[in-house]
Amino acid sequence: MVPWIIAGLGVGVAAAATARVARLVAKHEHRGWPVEWPIRRVSPEGFDPIFRLTSFGPSLETVVRYSSSMGVHGGTSDREAWILAVLATRARIMFEFGTCTGKTTHLLAMNSPADAIVHTLTLAQGQEGQYAGGAGDDGHDTRAALRESSAAGFVYSNTPEESKIRQHYGDSKAFDQTSLAGKCDLVFVDGSHAYSYVVSDSRKALEMVAPGGMVLWHDYRGFYKPRGVYKALNELAKDVELVHLKGTSLIAYRRQEGPTGVSSSARE
Ligand SMILES: C[S@@+](CC[C@H](N)C(=O)[O-])C[C@H]1O[C@@H](n2cnc3c(N)ncnc32)[C@H](O)[C@@H]1O
Repeated sequence: MVPWIIAGLGVGVAAAATARVARLVAKHEHRGWPVEWPIRRVSPEGFDPIFRLTSFGPSLETVVRYSSSMGVHGGTSDREAWILAVLATRARIMFEFGTCTGKTTHLLAMNSPADAIVHTLTLAQGQEGQYAGGAGDDGHDTRAALRESSAAGFVYSNTPEESKIRQHYGDSKAFDQTSLAGKCDLVFVDGSHAYSYVVSDSRKALEMVAPGGMVLWHDYRGFYKPRGVYKALNELAKDVELVHLKGTSLIAYRRQEGPTGVSSSARE
């Protein structure tokens, strides 16, 4: 009897350890079994030729100003920050869903042309009552969104780049994007990760992006956490050509110069 109990415990511990490793690989490396990754994975170069590798590594066109993600919980990784900063070098109008500390906002402002404008939207301290979650939203995603809505100031405050930044406050479902429709060269979707918000913010982002412009989403990490991003983007990928940038949790879309290539159901 005792050997069977010990064997059973051993199997249980091994299964729990395997599940934990799978979860960590999904969260940090954005790949791996048993998660399905239905969105096609491409190298950053496969999405934009600016990331092509030379015999020395990334080209000099990709040299940007940025600060490390060290000690920043839940923000972009160094690789993700670099990709966003490089894409900003050619963007004049940008929009970010979810400001948090303003780290990415500042990166976009620092690396963009002198006449560029970065719009960024966040739910501020005291605006939690505006949050309008949907019935199918995961409780963890909702709690994280509300917890992150407490920034008392921003990294970019009192910097020379502040003049390029337009800070908007309020709930993203209530945000009226019509004045920016078809105008943004780069939209970064990183607000609430709850399903109903990712659906709503993505629709707005696809409406705001200019011909030839791009939309990037953060935190595509499999079905563990945040669940809303994974579910909403897998659904969106059925209508819109999305790619998953290798080595990152970034999902990317480029609007064609001509007709959008986005079905009306995805934009409505
Ligand atoms: C993950 S953080 C954003 C990180 C930031 N983009 C960066 O790269 O450093 C999420 C942000 O979304 C904001 N947020 C959460 N729910 C929101 C909502 N319903 N409307 C607008 N902003 C929201 C939070 O206040 C927080 O600032």
